[in-house]
Amino acid sequence: MAGDTILMIGACGQIGAELTMQLRQQYGGANVIAADIKKPEGELLESGPFAEINVLDQAGIADILDKYRVTQIYNMAAMLSATGEKYPMKAWELNMNGLIHTLELARDRQVKKVYWPSSIAAFGPTTPKANTPQITVMEPNTIYGISKQAGERWCEWYFLKYGLDVRSLRYPGIISYKTMPGGGTTDYAVDIYFKARSQKAYTCFLAHDMLLPMMYMPDAIRATIELMEADAERIKIRSSYNLAAMSFTPAMVGESIKQHIPDFQLTYDIDFRQKIAETWPGSIDDSEARADWGWQHAFDLDKMTADMLQHVPAGSQ
Ligand code: SER
Repeated sequence: MAGDTILMIGACGQIGAELTMQLRQQYGGANVIAADIKKPEGELLESGPFAEINVLDQAGIADILDKYRVTQIYNMAAMLSATGEKYPMKAWELNMNGLIHTLELARDRQVKKVYWPSSIAAFGPTTPKANTPQITVMEPNTIYGISKQAGERWCEWYFLKYGLDVRSLRYPGIISYKTMPGGGTTDYAVDIYFKARSQKAYTCFLAHDMLLPMMYMPDAIRATIELMEADAERIKIRSSYNLAAMSFTPAMVGESIKQHIPDFQLTYDIDFRQKIAETWPGSIDDSEARADWGWQHAFDLDKMTADMLQHVPAGSQ
C-alpha cells in the first residue's frame, strides 16, 4: 500500500533477503528498513535503510519503529530445526521472545500489520502425513517446531484479544539460489543443486524416499506478499495458513537433475536430520489458502530444477 513503511527483521536470511528486495521494488527502497544481527553486503545494503540489531533488543527495535514510523513488521528471524536441536535454549529464546517482542511492540504502536512465518515443523509424528489438513493433531517434538506451534497460538491470541492484524504461513522447505539457508532439515534440497552443478555429485543426509513438502522461492515470496496485501476480511485463519506447491523425495530431485546432468551421482549418508524429517508431513492440504485469498503456486519440481540449474553457477561451492 502506498504510505506504508515496512520493517524486515531477519533481512539477511534465506527468505528475508529476497522478501526485502521484492518489497523494495514494490514499496520503494526507502520504505523498507532491513534489520539483521549482521550487516549485509551488496544490493541489500545499497537499496535502502539498514539497521544492525538483535531481535531480542526490544528497546532498540522500538527506536527503529519510532524513527521510521513503521506501519508493517515482518519478523523473519529464527533458528531452524537442525540447529535448534543443538542449541535448544537459544532457539526457544530467539524464536519465542523475538515473536512476542514484535507482537507487543506492534500492539503498543501504530503498526497496522505483522507477518510471522510458521512451518511444516509445527506438525509432529502423530499428525496425519498425507494431505495434512489445516486443523489437525499437532504434537511437534523439535524445539523449532514447538516454538512455531506456540507462536501460532500467540499470533491468533493477539488477533482475538487486541485485534492486531497478524498474518502467517506454514512454509514448506524453501529452495533458492540467492541466499543460502542455514541449519534446516530441508536444506539438502538447496545443496543438491549447487553440488550437481559444481561436482556432478551429492551426498544426501536424508533417506532416498523421505517425502517432504517443498516450495520454490519465487512462489514463497509471492505467497507472502499476496497474503499481506489481501483484504483483512479474507484472512480467516489468524494462527497460520497451510501452504503448498509440491512434495518430493531426494531420489525424485536426483531424477529431475539427471534430465539436465545425466551423469549426476546421488549417494546417501543419513544423519540425525532424518529423524526430524520423519516427524513432518509428506504433503499439505492448503485449500483454505486457495479459497480465502486465492493462493496458486507456479513451480513444480521439474520447472524449479530447470530454473535452479540455470542460475546456480557451475563453479560454486
Ligand atoms: N526449512 C525448515 C527446516 O528445515 C522447516 O521450516 O528447519
